[in-house]
Amino acid sequence: MYHSYLRVKPFYSLLFVNDFPSAPHVFFTLLHFSSIFELLLRVENLTKTTKLDPKMSSSSVALFRRVSSSSSSTYVRSSSLLCQLTNWSSNDTTVTTTKRHQNQPDPLMTTTTFRAKSISTTSSTRNTDSPHLPRTHGGLTDQDRIFTNLYGKHDPFIKGAMKRGDWYNTKELVLMGADWIINEIKASGLRGRGGAGFPSGLKWSFMPKVSADGRPNYLVVNADESEPGTCKDREIMRHDPHKLLEGCLLAGVGMRARACYIYIRGEYVNERLALERARDEAYAAGYLGKNACGTGIDFDVNIHYGAGAYICGEETALIESLEGKQGKPRLKPPFPANIGLYGCPTTVTNVETVAVAPTILRRGSDWFAGFGRKNNTGTKLFCISGHVNNPCTVEEEMSIPLQELIEKHCGGVRGGWDNLLAIIPGGSSVPLIPKKVCEEVLMDFDSLKAAQSGLGTAAVIVMDKSTDVVDAIARLSYFYKHESCGQCTPCREGTGWLYNVMERMKKGDAKLEEIDMLQELTKQIEGHTICALGDAAAWPVQGLIRHFRPELEARIGAQTTPDRIAA
Ligand SMILES: Cc1cc2nc3c(=O)[nH]c(=O)nc-3n(C[C@H](O)[C@H](O)[C@H](O)COP(=O)(O)O)c2cc1C
Ligand code: SF4
Repeated sequence: MYHSYLRVKPFYSLLFVNDFPSAPHVFFTLLHFSSIFELLLRVENLTKTTKLDPKMSSSSVALFRRVSSSSSSTYVRSSSLLCQLTNWSSNDTTVTTTKRHQNQPDPLMTTTTFRAKSISTTSSTRNTDSPHLPRTHGGLTDQDRIFTNLYGKHDPFIKGAMKRGDWYNTKELVLMGADWIINEIKASGLRGRGGAGFPSGLKWSFMPKVSADGRPNYLVVNADESEPGTCKDREIMRHDPHKLLEGCLLAGVGMRARACYIYIRGEYVNERLALERARDEAYAAGYLGKNACGTGIDFDVNIHYGAGAYICGEETALIESLEGKQGKPRLKPPFPANIGLYGCPTTVTNVETVAVAPTILRRGSDWFAGFGRKNNTGTKLFCISGHVNNPCTVEEEMSIPLQELIEKHCGGVRGGWDNLLAIIPGGSSVPLIPKKVCEEVLMDFDSLKAAQSGLGTAAVIVMDKSTDVVDAIARLSYFYKHESCGQCTPCREGTGWLYNVMERMKKGDAKLEEIDMLQELTKQIEGHTICALGDAAAWPVQGLIRHFRPELEARIGAQTTPDRIAA
């Protein structure tokens, strides 16, 4: 009942038909802004800076005018509506102030009007692939961004976080119950942001509903973020830490967990400090700890520092490390959902996966599912580095074309698109793709898989034509050799062997038939190890051979002297 009401409510609230603000509502809304004068100024600026879209329907125009001239007390919700009507681009700085209010809660809103803020009508209809119109993805507007302080321009701590909507009606969300939380996450189509892309709702539902033997359930948040090229979770932890902490509570309740452990890589000192401060604030405000958010549920969040080993990002190695042992992956089964941390049922999940959960629950699973393609839904943080004019981390719609992502947010490839050589689209573990594939591929799990690569951590590493691509992959081989924990022979021996051969390939100091031997070696490692680090070492080399074999052959040819042929 509550659920279906929430779905209908937003539209009415948007038009103020049956939800006209009450007198105290108006008073506190006014208090929320610094002064009436500022409000009037803003409304005036808004009217000045906003241009009518010529494509707007006449009813939208009428609505736009009505809202533009509406009283200042309805400013917050009016501005949200304006954003929708005019489809402002994320780069339009003239409306930044206006757009920022989208996620600011009104302290007097009731649960239902708060859910009414989820003006998801535009977004939800975005994914309706029309048979007549080609469906394109991308162009996420600020009103649909989850991480509204990604660049640290605003206060990351509790005051700023609450203005951005964090911890708003968390109690009501918790009281909806574990099954509701899991079902919403399932319906949203969220897939894990840690690399493998496993459906999160399903994964979280593997946790026992009742403890037969008294063991508690644990949530472990993977904040190890060591995949080369990946720098998204750090932005959440240092600039939006309350999103993660609120996510811990909600995901934890969904999993019926008693406590959460956030395992953060040792090098992330500032991120750790920000997260610890935010956690202390959340405890002081009664959001975490005993009777968290006044729900009657006790929920603790512990922060643990890693010591800089890439392998500790692998979920079972992470659990070992948390237990104080060497970070070496465990054989599965048993899976962590059965026997995990301290022998108790555990789910390990990525920072971004957890941090998006509160917004999904607030704005509704259909809002989130309205972005991206089928089975590849939601918004996503992409971190783009390498040979682009403006390397950045940006939240965009899933399934955005790779080329558009780079052109729009990174100022293009250094020297222009035609200067592009290849891109590693999902962190160092996935095979690279050459320029031609980059022009066609969408940034989602299925499109990149079809292109024989992967979305991985969505860390896009761009290489222009100045790159020695063989050297670049050889360097990654060195990384995997260095980070192998050494438990299994194919990985321990294979990664060293891969690196040695790659070093020779780099110089052309090899024989032609060794290219096939190198390929065979990757196949001997892939799928034959305890954890996926073996695969991660093999795939970049496979990508190189698949797309740059002529380059390898040319180097060998250039080095091949008559003497060596005779030998
Ligand atoms: C060698 C290795 C390193 C990994 N490093 C990370 C990491 O730093 N962060 C992360 O979230 N997942 C990492 N993973 C994936 C985790 O094992 C796990 O799948 C992930 O945390 C699950 O989160 P998700 O369900 O939210 O995607 C790594 C996996 C492997 C094999
Ligand atoms: S694949 Fe490599 S890193 Fe993973 S357990 Fe085996 S030796 Fe260790």
